[in-house]
Amino acid sequence: MPSRTVHLALGPDSYDVVVGHGVLADLGATLRTHTRAASVLLVCDAALPDALVRTAEQSLAAASLRAARHSVAASEPNKSLHTAQAIVEAAAAARLERTDAIVALGGGVVGDLAGFAASIYRRGIDIVHCPTTLLAMVDAAIGGKTAANLLTPDARLLKNMAGTFHQPKAVLADTAALASLPPRHLRAGLAECVKHAMLAAHAGDPDLLAAMEQDPPAVAASSLAPAATARLIDLIARNAAVKARVVERDTTESAGLQQRPAPNHDAGREALNLGHTFGHALEAMQHISPDADPAHAPLHHGEAVALGLVAAAAAAESLGQIPADSTARVRRLLDAIALPTRVAALPDDATILAAMMDDKKVMGGRLRLVLPWRELGRVRVAEDPPREAVAAGLAAIRAG
Ligand SMILES: NC(=O)c1ccc[n+]([C@@H]2O[C@H](COP(=O)([O-])OP(=O)(O)OC[C@H]3O[C@@H](n4cnc5c(N)ncnc54)[C@H](O)[C@@H]3O)[C@@H](O)[C@H]2O)c1
Repeated sequence: MPSRTVHLALGPDSYDVVVGHGVLADLGATLRTHTRAASVLLVCDAALPDALVRTAEQSLAAASLRAARHSVAASEPNKSLHTAQAIVEAAAAARLERTDAIVALGGGVVGDLAGFAASIYRRGIDIVHCPTTLLAMVDAAIGGKTAANLLTPDARLLKNMAGTFHQPKAVLADTAALASLPPRHLRAGLAECVKHAMLAAHAGDPDLLAAMEQDPPAVAASSLAPAATARLIDLIARNAAVKARVVERDTTESAGLQQRPAPNHDAGREALNLGHTFGHALEAMQHISPDADPAHAPLHHGEAVALGLVAAAAAAESLGQIPADSTARVRRLLDAIALPTRVAALPDDATILAAMMDDKKVMGGRLRLVLPWRELGRVRVAEDPPREAVAAGLAAIRAG
């Protein structure tokens, strides 16, 4: 099955994202080509099947690279500075030198933490990302953002509040890794694909939303039969390209910072936060379930994003920024993927708004929301949006 390559043109930090079935077997050769590493710390998600980790280790050995392994239990509470410190110390224990490298083999949690560790160990060593969730393949492993969550003294989890920009030397997205990924996590990754489709006009792919509507991605992703795998590789590569184009234009997410805050302005890399201000607030509320079953709480990141996308569309619709049927269109696509678009037990608007004010985009105490603009496929940042628009967004995702 042919693989696809998406190039990120970032000057001296340029790199390729290779998407294909079985590409993890090329890990050792990739390190040999793109780094000067002789030793590698393989930071693995503890939930991965042994066979996948062995494929990575065998590839490293075949390229005569020394490898030490460090496992991480992937969860948001565990995405902490403490866990990042343990990775840095494992790198020191493995005697990694300045020219050696860390490899992240896992989902977004492992990738963000390993990237952070790589960016601070000896003031920065190389990293290669091998994402093993759909979300990490289309989003987290691309673009160089690294992160750890912080916990406030009153036990609020502040998502990604510590971090750095540290571009990888290469990304290997092996669709074979998705065979063991629970369907709920596969769907969560598709939420980020819908997000990309809702801003893809900025990345030169205005037809992505219609393409996803025509080929229900849940079907494409849920089977690893050869024909489905080809469609999945295409979907991942197309989404990786959307992220790549947005990152190329505003690598350090500073476009918004440099502008005078007009009520609506170009989002730059912040466009990728579409749905995330609503979503992060919901994700932090441990009791919210994606369906009626409390045992399924809390929301996964992608599920919270799905709800955030509906809320953002409804907020934009209430402001007259997009046509009246746009929220229904977003909801239909997310429903087709079996992602949540309404949830029960949401607290009142004031409580959710207070949680939204923890968002990294808040500036000068003012809420800033990325919202659809003119048509689905385009977005802008709304500075200090009217509370009625936020309320309209929340009303759209409240069940009952
Ligand atoms: N850096 C960025 O630009 C960026 C972008 C988007 C999201 N993120 C971050 O990514 C994280 C979410 O990533 P995620 O959805 O990959 O979640 P995750 O890393 O928590 O992985 C989801 C679950 O799947 C398990 N898992 C991973 N790969 C598996 C596999 N192949 N088989 C079986 N189980 C597997 C993990 O152990 C975990 O339980 C969040 O912390 C989010 O903040 C970062």
